[in-house]
Amino acid sequence: MNMNIAVIPGDGIGPEVTNEAVKVLDAVADRFGHNFYYRNVLAGGCAIDAYGTALPKETLNVCKNSDAVLLGAVGGEKWDTLPGDRRPETALLGLRKELGLYANLRPAMLFSALAESCPLRPELVAGGLDILVVRELTGGIYFGKKATEKKDGVRFAYDVEEYSETEIARIARTAFEMARLRNKQVTSVDKANVLESSRLWRAVVTDISADYPDIKLNHLYVDNTAMQLVRAPKQFDVILTSNIFGDILSDEASQIAGSIGMLPSASLNAGDFGMYEPVHGSAPDIAGLNKANPMAAILSASMMLRYTFKLTKEADAIEEAVKDVLNEGYRTADLASGTDNERILGTAEAGSIIAEYIK
Ligand code: IPM
Ligand code: MG
Repeated sequence: MNMNIAVIPGDGIGPEVTNEAVKVLDAVADRFGHNFYYRNVLAGGCAIDAYGTALPKETLNVCKNSDAVLLGAVGGEKWDTLPGDRRPETALLGLRKELGLYANLRPAMLFSALAESCPLRPELVAGGLDILVVRELTGGIYFGKKATEKKDGVRFAYDVEEYSETEIARIARTAFEMARLRNKQVTSVDKANVLESSRLWRAVVTDISADYPDIKLNHLYVDNTAMQLVRAPKQFDVILTSNIFGDILSDEASQIAGSIGMLPSASLNAGDFGMYEPVHGSAPDIAGLNKANPMAAILSASMMLRYTFKLTKEADAIEEAVKDVLNEGYRTADLASGTDNERILGTAEAGSIIAEYIK
């Protein structure tokens, strides 16, 4: 199989972790006889520095003409004082919107080797955790009307949370379809006791569920969900939620899964196209120090093989290699628990060992 992949290393630790993901993809290509062609393009702070814009047209075009996008991370202190509409993060939001990537899959798995890294009591996570957050990614408060204005000499600002039933229905279908491949349970998360947009969310999700009689559906308020995630995380299979709630809950889920350095994501359009990126950010404090955990980026590459290229064996091979390496006691600094049999690796070494295990 020949595949064209747009690579957006981005800022901070983005370039380091995407390097390792590419290393691992190359190992997959070798072992299984595929050809991956990469095109590196700029987005985020580095693009602001080079072109004066976070998302250059050229970058968007290369992405549109590729089969999938692999992204590192964007943002950093250097660009934090720019006005909101010129910040590096606008690249991410622009890519999501322009590429129609409304379905964001964020699996939070606790690998058994990392049980020690989970801050919850062992009996709460016995047997491991496997939660899939399905986050709506191109609507809601992220893309609603927003402004800072002056009213009677006083500044005020607003961001509108809004959803159409079409937007809700399609992400609900994604969640139900995903649940079919897993434990057949969807928890839809909203704030329907307060928000009008959440009441529509709940009504539409309930309607769509009629097409999925094999899937068990329940509804939870977002505040309760935040609590349940640390109280009894094993009750969850697929969590279906809006853009902003999904942003928050996926960070929470990442911690109970050991480290945010382990969490991959896929952002999919209505077809097979997707952008794949670690859930973590650009971590400027450790950028360039060969300290970052590349596993979220590597597992994102595995999701790319699974969802865009339908290469299940190859995707499984990456996941197995990550598990094997963890089982051998290899850890990056974020995963260190201080026990004796741990072997601490830098970013590049972690990527190389995972690539070795694949070969
Ligand atoms: C994420 C990030 C982004 C988001 C930021 C960087 C714009 O936190 O992907 O979760 O809020 O969606
Ligand atoms: Mg986030």
